[in-house]
Amino acid sequence: MTKVTTLGEFIVERQADFPFAKGELSRLLSAIRLAAKVVNREVNKAGLVDDIMGAAGSENIQGEDQQKLDVYANIQMINALRAQQEVCGIGSEENEDFIAFDQGQSIWGKYIVMMDPLDGSSNIDVNVSIGTIFSIYRRKSKPGSVAELQDFLQPGDDLVAAGYIIYGSSTMLVFSTGKGVNGFTLDPSIGVFCLSHPEMCIPEDGNIYSINEGNYKQFPEGVKKYIKYCQEEEDDRPYTSRYIGSLVADFHRNLIKGGVYIYPSTGKNPKGKLRLMYENIPLAFLVEQAGGCASDGKNRILGIEPEELHQRTPLFIGSKNMVKKAEEFMAEYSSVEANY
Ligand code: AHG
Ligand code: MN
Ligand code: MN
Repeated sequence: MTKVTTLGEFIVERQADFPFAKGELSRLLSAIRLAAKVVNREVNKAGLVDDIMGAAGSENIQGEDQQKLDVYANIQMINALRAQQEVCGIGSEENEDFIAFDQGQSIWGKYIVMMDPLDGSSNIDVNVSIGTIFSIYRRKSKPGSVAELQDFLQPGDDLVAAGYIIYGSSTMLVFSTGKGVNGFTLDPSIGVFCLSHPEMCIPEDGNIYSINEGNYKQFPEGVKKYIKYCQEEEDDRPYTSRYIGSLVADFHRNLIKGGVYIYPSTGKNPKGKLRLMYENIPLAFLVEQAGGCASDGKNRILGIEPEELHQRTPLFIGSKNMVKKAEEFMAEYSSVEANY
């Protein structure tokens, strides 16, 4: 029988990668692992409670007491991270302002977590894959004080770890601490994440492009031209179009198979729709660790100096040569203003 490496074992084995962290980062990842299992349990029975209650004839239960799953995921993540006391603050897509812990040991926590607790939330009700995205930074302010805005507004280049959980046909946790990307699949029978995708690498070329083409008329000229390029019958094209509408799921597929995901600026969302801190930076970190690229159409996502918590940027992410090609089209046909 081949030896299975659990996520717990892997974290302990890799502790030496962080000579200054003394197990703190490991404890933090363990907290995320625990929260992921709890959210997974709820995601797997989405719809069930409502339906059973309805069938039993109970009134006033639907909608009222039922917490939305993204709010639930947010609370689970916050509670798990607070309990570990390694984190002094959390930035979440679900909270307008950052959360700075001001009590107990947490003010001594050295880390900040940014997260999109439930990504793809419009897909919850229709049984399509959704996810959780997280990233971890070292705080800038002094431990022992309450975290400040500067702790949260750090560029992706300063990340120490990032990852996502995908609640799909199976549940996976994929993460990187800056030394490659590893994927773990949850074995639901024993409730343990097992290393299933070691050292993940994204193919340099791919044949999938992922974009919401319904917005075509609102796209910058460079993106329109790139889409036409993808559709041409030449060399290895036309490429295949795949768009789930859950960033994590679209990203995960392209990471494994090779492809490019684009959410450009549109007339409705001139800065794009996706959030720099909670979505774009963590996935950009992962894709670079896997050998791919991420940009806003011109600039590397990880090099962008963030200005506000809920900042949005366009996102071009995936296989290196595909992202570069899309950037060439942007440079040729779209002004910088059109990109933002
Ligand atoms: P969230 O559910 O966290 O708000 O994110 C939704 C995002 C992302 O997951 C997805 O790729 C994108 O929105 C889809 O947007 P469109 O429906 O505009 O294509
Ligand atoms: Mn999201
Ligand atoms: Mn979300």
